[in-house]
Amino acid sequence: MLTPKLTIQLAKWSAILALVLSLAACGGSPTGGGNPAGSAPKGDYLKDAPSDIAAVYKSRCLGCHGTDLQGRVGANTNLQQVGSRMSAEEITAQIEQGKGLMPGFADSLSQQEIDGLAEWLASKQ
Ligand code: HEC
Repeated sequence: MLTPKLTIQLAKWSAILALVLSLAACGGSPTGGGNPAGSAPKGDYLKDAPSDIAAVYKSRCLGCHGTDLQGRVGANTNLQQVGSRMSAEEITAQIEQGKGLMPGFADSLSQQEIDGLAEWLASKQ
C-alpha cells in the first residue's frame, strides 16, 4: 500500500522527471537550423561561463531562463543583457531570495555557486 506521504513523493519525482525529460528534448537538436541572422548560435550564451557555473545554470536555472538565457517564462526571464539592468550584488540577492515566480536558492546552492552565477550574469550586458 502507498502511504499518502509516499504518493506525494512519487508525484514530486514524476514532475521532476517530466521536467528533466522536456529539457533533454529541448537541448537535443544541435543542427536546429533556424537561427535568425545575427543571433548567436544556440548555446553560445553559456560558453563563457566557467564549466561548473554552466553546470549549475543548466541544472537549476535553464528550465525557466532557457538554453541561451532567452527566458522561457516571460519577458522578465530574459537574462541576455541582465548585467545592464542589475549589478552582481543585486543578482546575488535575487538568486538567494527569489522574486515572484522565481524560487530562492539560498538553501540549495553554495555561496560560491551563487556568486559565480551572479558574476557571470552581471557580465551579460
Ligand atoms: C521556476 C522558474 C525559475 C527558475 C528555476 C529560476 N528563475 Fe530566475 N526568474 C524567474 C522569473 C519568473 C523571473 C522574473 C521575476 C520577476 O521579476 O517577477 C526571474 C528573474 C531572474 C533574474 C532577474 C532578471 C531581471 O532582469 O529582472 C535573475 C538575475 C535570475 N532570474 C536568475 C536566475 C538564476 C541564476 C537561476 C538559477 C539559480 C534562476 N533564475 C532560476 C524564474 C525562474
